Amino acid sequence: MNGGHKPRRHLLSITDLDAADIERICNLTESFAEVSRRRIPRVPALRGKTVVWLFYEDSTRTRLSFEAAAKQLSADTVNFSVGSSSVNKGESLRDTVETIEAMGIDAIVVRHSCAGVPHRVADWIDASVINAGDGCHEHPTQALLDLYTARARLGDLHGARVAIVGDVAHSRVARSDVLAFTAMGAEVTLVGPRPLLPASLEGWPVTVSHDLDSVLGEIDVCYLLRMQLEREAGGHVPSLREFRAEYGLDAARADRLRDGALIMHPGPINRGVEIDGDVVERPNVVITEQVANGVAVRMAVLFLLLGSGMDLTESEKMAA
Ligand code: NCD
Repeated sequence: MNGGHKPRRHLLSITDLDAADIERICNLTESFAEVSRRRIPRVPALRGKTVVWLFYEDSTRTRLSFEAAAKQLSADTVNFSVGSSSVNKGESLRDTVETIEAMGIDAIVVRHSCAGVPHRVADWIDASVINAGDGCHEHPTQALLDLYTARARLGDLHGARVAIVGDVAHSRVARSDVLAFTAMGAEVTLVGPRPLLPASLEGWPVTVSHDLDSVLGEIDVCYLLRMQLEREAGGHVPSLREFRAEYGLDAARADRLRDGALIMHPGPINRGVEIDGDVVERPNVVITEQVANGVAVRMAVLFLLLGSGMDLTESEKMAA
């Protein structure tokens, strides 16, 4: 997916992409969003291709939207359910992945609690690997849909100010979003209590604030994160109540945002912690748009990784 549209096999990290790749994905996403809105939302672009989900961690949005994306592109899909598989009989990750590949698949969408697992899987097999979230490391398709959603509302993101608020330290979304938003020229500020920000920010192109109230009036995007309690985040703050008092987006704080500033969240949201229930209903909250755009973004990614050189115009012709 890099310069000159050289075909790429995997999407493991936002660093696999340059600004031109991201631009191309956004453009393709726009075309696929149009496909999604059709009465029969289906194009034959990936007919004959098989995509497998390998999710070792819980997911609602990511897995369902990859599934919808693959179906709308006419790919066959296989859902590998870790909970009822031979993983429970002690089968290793490598043996599991090689078994799946032996059945003839074209892409594997991997989510795992350990950072780097999708990269290992990519070393072992010939099929395309898409990282759907690896530990606290990265979640590239989430960042692409966040970027697409912000651009759709705000236009060019050069100079746009984005605050990523909350449990940044345990968030793979934050890492991928920092890379994606800064690649498109936005300025990112990480906001949270010291223990919930990464221990070292060396190499992160960001500024840091511990005071949400002082940044609210200056930002174009307020991107909220859930406290990742499954990664022990709770032990880093005195209590969720205290976290909410300083960093939760309640109505009074939401009122201080500039006109047109967006409130974003990757989901799942914890109402009454990082965002209050009455704020969720406001028109500048784009959480549902993020979910909706997730399907078209994942169509674009699957198409670019698996679409055998056929350009969209041809596939559109086939769909007519
Ligand atoms: C995120 C994830 O799983 O990393 N959710 C998602 O994919 N939309 C964020 C989270 O779990 O808080």
